[in-house]
Order: sequence, then C-alpha cells, then structure tokens
Amino acid sequence: MTKNKKVAIIGAGVSGLASIRSCLEEGLEPTCFEKSNDIGGLWKFSGSKEGRASIYKSVFTNSSKEMMCFPDFPYPDNFPNFMHNIKIQEYLTAFAKEKNLLKYIQFKVRCYQHVNKHPDFATTGQWDVTTERDGKRESAVFDAVMVCSGHHVYPNLPKESFPGLNHFKGKCFHSRDYKEPGVFKGKRVLVVGLGNSGCDIATELSHTAEQVLLPGSRSGSWVMSRVWHNGYPWDMVLITRFGTFLKNNLPTAISDWLYMKQMNARFKHENYGLMPLNGHRLS
Ligand SMILES: Cc1cc2nc3c(=O)[nH]c(=O)nc-3n(C[C@H](O)[C@H](O)[C@H](O)COP(=O)(O)OP(=O)(O)OC[C@H]3O[C@@H](n4cnc5c(N)ncnc54)[C@H](O)[C@@H]3O)c2cc1C
Ligand SMILES: *[C@@H]1O[C@H](CO)[C@@H](O)[C@H](O)[C@H]1NC(C)=O
Repeated sequence: MTKNKKVAIIGAGVSGLASIRSCLEEGLEPTCFEKSNDIGGLWKFSGSKEGRASIYKSVFTNSSKEMMCFPDFPYPDNFPNFMHNIKIQEYLTAFAKEKNLLKYIQFKVRCYQHVNKHPDFATTGQWDVTTERDGKRESAVFDAVMVCSGHHVYPNLPKESFPGLNHFKGKCFHSRDYKEPGVFKGKRVLVVGLGNSGCDIATELSHTAEQVLLPGSRSGSWVMSRVWHNGYPWDMVLITRFGTFLKNNLPTAISDWLYMKQMNARFKHENYGLMPLNGHRLS
C-alpha cells in the first residue's frame, strides 16, 4: 500500500480550515501549524497583535452568508444575512468541530518564513518545513505545503506621500490599528481612503467624533449598500453566472453601460465626483 501523502498547512484561518478539509477529502494527511492559540485567523478578534491580521470591533461581513459559506455547511437559519465578526468566528468553530478538523491542528506552533526544498526534491518533490514551538525548533519533511498565512497582515502606511506630515501633532495610524470609536470622542478625524475600511470607520466615527472628514478618492469609488434590489444581498444579485456571461459576451461598451446603470440606480456617483475611472468593476 502506498503511504498517504503528507501535507503541511500553514495557518488555521478560513483558508487553512478549508485546506485541511480538502486534504481529508482527497485522502491526504494534513498537519496544520497555527501560531496563535485558536482557529479563525482574521475573524478571531484579538486587538492589534504584531504579525497577524487585525480587525475593528464592529466589522460586519461585506459578503452575504449565502455567498461565504463552506459548500456543505450552511450558516444556521437564525444568523443574519451579513454578520458581525463574532458570528463568523462562531461559524468557523462549529465547522472545525463538526468536520473533526481540530485534531489536525497544532496550536502555538509557528512556521518559519522559508520553507525549503528537501535535498532530494528533484525526485521526490518534498519540502522541509521548520517550525518553532515553545522556543524549540523542529524540522519535518512533507510532500506538499499549503500556505494559508493570510494577506491582511502588514499595514501599508505611505507617510512619505503626505509632505509635511511629520509636523502634524495629532495621531496618524493605519486602519489596522483602529479598534473602536470611543477614544475619538470630541476629536476631529480625517479618514484617507474610500475603500471598505475607510467608509466603515468614517461612518462609525461620525456618531462619536466632533467632526469627520472623508475627502474624495484618487480614482472614484462605487458607494453601495449591502442590501440591493428588492432587499436581496448585493452579491447574490450582482455576482451571478448570467452577469458573467453577459460581461464575457456583450461588446464592452454595452456591458459597461449596463453595469454603470445598475451601480448608479440608487446613487448618482457623478453628483459627488465619485464616478470610478475606466468603469472599474467590483466583480
Ligand atoms: C476588515 C476586513 C473585512 C473583511 N470582510 C470579509 C467578508 O465580509 N467576506 C469575506 O469573504 N472576506 C472578508 N475579508 C477577507 C478575509 O481576509 C478573509 O475572509 C479570510 O479571513 C482570509 O482567511 P485566511 O485564512 O486566508 O487568512 P487569515 O484569516 O489572516 O488567517 C491566517 C492564519 O495564519 C496564521 N499564521 C500566519 N503566519 C503563520 C506562521 N508563520 N506559522 C503559523 N501560523 C501562521 C495566523 O495566526 C492566522 O491564524 C475581510 C478582510 C478584512 C481585513
Ligand atoms: C470585503 O472587504 C475586504 C476588506 O476590505 C476586501 O478585501 C474584500 O475584497 C471585500 N469583499 C468584497 C466581496 O467586496
């Protein structure tokens, strides 16, 4: 009998959990290394810890529960369409338990940044994975490695793009370090960036801060509601096979025109100078 192939999975967030599951379905032998003491990754609210993704207290999903569930594990009926991060963490924990994934995860074990080719890689395709647990290093050989370490870990704060910023006496920080609005009571806040986090945070602060300024963006932005036509979640209406079919088969001018008409139905972006350049699309 051939031995099962061994797969190292780095990280036990959404991607890591899905990877463990897929390995099991394919008859592979997964070992997942997670440097923290819990699953969930970004969805496990934990303040601003160095080297891991971090969210603000009020983060709600921007994709609906119909669109972001594991295929054979629907969200409970009593969960709302768009969920607070605590609910996602609850769901992920239930998923890991129900599918028996926890026994494949080694917590408080960190993988080194470099995963190296095993000396006989040319014939076996194997990898050397070095981990650290309680300050002790260990190395093991795996047939494959799945990197699920997350992509919202390191903030990009381009201070050099704001000449004179070094004279500014107030606080200046990345949205990664924003946790809750309380500390901004009575303060004036300038939010730079009209993306998901920028809009969320500006809206939340507007109830607490003395003043919030959200200047226009470099290239416009679609401002939209999570709730779309007839009260359906936006992603169920906008991200469909039919929509993709139209996009791929209609002349660009016509499909762009249809898309913009749809996006401008509730809110005419031109009126606020927000019209995205080059018909930029969300999906
Ligand atoms: C504010 C915000 C809102 C979002 N909202 C949505 C949404 O509504 N819907 C949606 O689908 N997506 C959303 N996302 C995207 C989000 O990134 C994904 O949902 C998902 O959390 C990504 O999972 P992941 O497993 O790839 O990474 P992460 O959740 O970041 O998990 C990575 C894991 O790897 C571990 N790890 C990292 N390095 C190592 C190492 N060297 N050794 C061992 N372990 C390691 C970390 O501790 C962590 O547990 C949002 C992101 C942000 C920032
Ligand atoms: C949801 O928000 C996150 C964080 O801003 C972003 O990375 C992701 O693309 C968004 N998802 C959708 C479907 O817009």
